[in-house]
Amino acid sequence: MIILAIETSCDETAVAIVEFKKNKVKILSDIISSQVKAHSKYGGVVPALASRMHLKNMVPVLRRAFQKAEIDRNKIDYIAITKGPGLIPALMIGVGAAKALSYSLNKPLVAINHLEGHIYANWLKKSVKLKVCKVKSQDKNNYELQKPELPILCLIVSGGHTQLVLMKKDLNYKIIGETVDDAAGEAFDKVAKLLGFAYPGGPLIEKAAKKGDRNKFNFTRPMMNSKNYNFSFSGLKTAVLYEVRGNCRDEAMPRLYSEQYQTDIAASFQQAVIDVLISKTIKAAREYKVKSILLGGGVSANKELQKQLEETINKKIPNTEYRIPNINLTTDNALMIAVAAYYNIIGKKNIKDWKSVKADANLRL
Ligand code: KG4
Ligand code: ZN
Repeated sequence: MIILAIETSCDETAVAIVEFKKNKVKILSDIISSQVKAHSKYGGVVPALASRMHLKNMVPVLRRAFQKAEIDRNKIDYIAITKGPGLIPALMIGVGAAKALSYSLNKPLVAINHLEGHIYANWLKKSVKLKVCKVKSQDKNNYELQKPELPILCLIVSGGHTQLVLMKKDLNYKIIGETVDDAAGEAFDKVAKLLGFAYPGGPLIEKAAKKGDRNKFNFTRPMMNSKNYNFSFSGLKTAVLYEVRGNCRDEAMPRLYSEQYQTDIAASFQQAVIDVLISKTIKAAREYKVKSILLGGGVSANKELQKQLEETINKKIPNTEYRIPNINLTTDNALMIAVAAYYNIIGKKNIKDWKSVKADANLRL
């Protein structure tokens, strides 16, 4: 089965053409055109600009995906599209393109939830191939599908979402907790802005934090001990704001901060986020007696979060499988949408006629 997947929920125009044969996955093409540079000067994603750039990039990205895949277009069996959630002006461009392809190629459309993509990114494992000299190497175009053991708990941490999702069955999701205000990635981006870092701030905070002292500032850990599995990051961001403003009278010149001060703030802030995420995840994993814990979304690229969660699982719930997506599958991409679509197709879910598919900014799992 060959799936062409399109993803335009935020600021990446992405197309992947992927072949599935039982549990073997061959990436025929996987193209991502990032708009990060264009949005960086505004300190965040500007929806109208994202929409214009998706419109400009959609056909060139599709053309490159087809060229790279070197297949006859009629060999494609399904068109998969991110229906939501995300920025509506951005989603609409991808949905429009997917509908046009579905109509012109006369192939069904599979409408996918973006967060389902972040979850299913964890089903992909790189194939290891033996070279002639018997050195093992990872094959970048070939993956295998490996289903984690159910029940599964997924911690989705992205720029738009922070959710704990319980999967007791395939394609079945229960949101057991989520943020009541800012998403974790959003908090990373806002704190980065306070420190004068560029957008997206997550990777820059992580880099700065490596040189800082995580115990220097004892920032609040909002809702860490609340009885539910919800999160809140807005108060933490405000705590950082007060600390930073208190230290520098001229708000317009954050570069006046010393490097040590910036790195200590970054490390202390990052640790506060990690503590809350880990504490809630372990608590939920115990209560729901899950067999696997998965990380997903842009913030899952954070090595410190990956490492500390792994250490805590090994210490507190050692028989639980722990998975993180391959680094190229942490932030937005179309490959994860193709994988989620494959499972939806097998489960006979969300296969639509092009006429009935609409973008939905607030789509829930
Ligand atoms: O999943 P994603 O690409 O887009 C959404 O679905 O929102 O996530 C983007 C978010 C941004 O907020 C970005 O700052 C954050 O992921 N991010 C990170 C790291 N890499 C990306 N946050 C912390 N550490 C990172 N290494
Ligand atoms: Zn995402």
